Amino acid sequence: MLEEVTKVHDESRQGEAFATQAPDTQTYSKKFYIESYGCAMNFNDSEIVASILNKEGYGPTRNVEEASLILINTCSIREKAEQTVRQRLTEFRHIKKNTPGMLIGVLGCMAERLKAKLLEEEKLVDMVVGPDAYRSLPSLIAEAEGGQKSVNVLLSREETYGDINPVRLDNNGVTSFVSIMRGCNNMCTFCVVPFTRGRERSRDAYSIVREARELFEKGYREVTLLGQNVDSYYWNNESGDETVTFAQLLEKVALIDPLLRVRFSTSHPKDITDEVLFIMIKYENICNYIHLPVQSGSNRVLQLMNRTYTREWYKKKVTRIREILPDCGLSTDIICGFCTETEEDHQETLDIMEFAHYDLAYMYFYSERPGTLAARRYQDDIPEEVKKRRLSEVVALHRRHSEESMKKEIGKTYKVLVEGRSKKSDEQLFGRNDQNKVIVFPKENFKKGDYVMVKVEDCTSGTLIGKAVI
Ligand code: SAH
Ligand code: SF4
Ligand code: F3S
Repeated sequence: MLEEVTKVHDESRQGEAFATQAPDTQTYSKKFYIESYGCAMNFNDSEIVASILNKEGYGPTRNVEEASLILINTCSIREKAEQTVRQRLTEFRHIKKNTPGMLIGVLGCMAERLKAKLLEEEKLVDMVVGPDAYRSLPSLIAEAEGGQKSVNVLLSREETYGDINPVRLDNNGVTSFVSIMRGCNNMCTFCVVPFTRGRERSRDAYSIVREARELFEKGYREVTLLGQNVDSYYWNNESGDETVTFAQLLEKVALIDPLLRVRFSTSHPKDITDEVLFIMIKYENICNYIHLPVQSGSNRVLQLMNRTYTREWYKKKVTRIREILPDCGLSTDIICGFCTETEEDHQETLDIMEFAHYDLAYMYFYSERPGTLAARRYQDDIPEEVKKRRLSEVVALHRRHSEESMKKEIGKTYKVLVEGRSKKSDEQLFGRNDQNKVIVFPKENFKKGDYVMVKVEDCTSGTLIGKAVI
């Protein structure tokens, strides 16, 4: 059976179905356990939550049974993401029964979407906390400890948690996420994010640079700047005499140290500028990799989705990227079976994939989300088997493209940042090249955090296989 979400996995990518669990520490009297679902921003939010809880005397644990506080940081992007959370809550019910005083909190996008309704639907839940309300966790926990169910789902126009130093959870010590903005002002009709995350706001540029610098000083060698639409990052200081665009922010972070790699995600095709592309070429440590979600190749569907670009505009952007950054890695997101999508529309999606020849793609079938513009305006009229068949065609085409893109790397030599041991063998290390491709190679005397020149000798569908060269 076809999975709802189909991703070309690599060795370390955190996918939607994977949960982050916190490392053990001994220094705290109370313990919390946290699981995260959804996008990288949500994983990063869990690290902000961990920081807030540490100050309250809660230390992280991986062992759910020794926790007095269980938190589940949720995602609402597709129905399946919410089903997974409901399933986990059922499992927690048994643990809670045997642990007097244990509190369970639902955080994140599902908390925001369902609000207090979640307390009626899931009786074991004690707290419901939206993505902009994490500073109020200590008082919400106190209320819940007093026997009252507590809810805070207020969205903010200002909150960026800019001053909070995230506590890195389940981390390799080499690569890290840094959130640069929150919310989204685009109203893609299929998408729940504007409703669960609120208005777009950009974080203080100096707090971003400070966080990235501290990570570098602790030994990290790569930061990924995160936002739903990074190209619309725009920050001005209080007096209004200094403004920072995304291109300028990229440059500031790149200048921290040539040994710190910089990545970013996600770029909206309507907003990515030449200025950004030129900054990418100017600094060797800004990785040549762009995630540029297309969603559909049909102008009619793109319009119904309110993506505000046409297939011609998108193709021009891809051409421009390749002109300025000829070896840039390119990835995308695709939705199959959006409302009214015809076979011709679907063919146009396949056609644009042929044009862009993505290295990596995240492919989904459309899942109607209550409250979104599409749910209100259009009928979810494509039968499930048609959605799945179209998705399987998109997946098959992408598989061919990604195999071709892997094979053409054989014989080339890349600078690889080592992220850890390969899952398959202790004798092998794995890392990524500039274009975000995973490379596995014999360990020799190299270690995590090293940059190693690796010659590619072979590949599988998702991994390059190579050997270090001097
Ligand atoms: N901000 C990013 C994407 C955030 S959501 C952007 O604008 O590209 C990640 C991906 O989930 C989207 O790109 C889209 O492909 C997919 N997605 C969002 N809502 C969906 C829905 N209702 N059904 C199926 N896939 C969806
Ligand atoms: Fe959703 Fe569109 Fe915003 Fe991305 S840009 S988060 S798809 S509304
Ligand atoms: Fe999911 Fe919310 Fe991210 S809906 S994809 S966790 S912003």
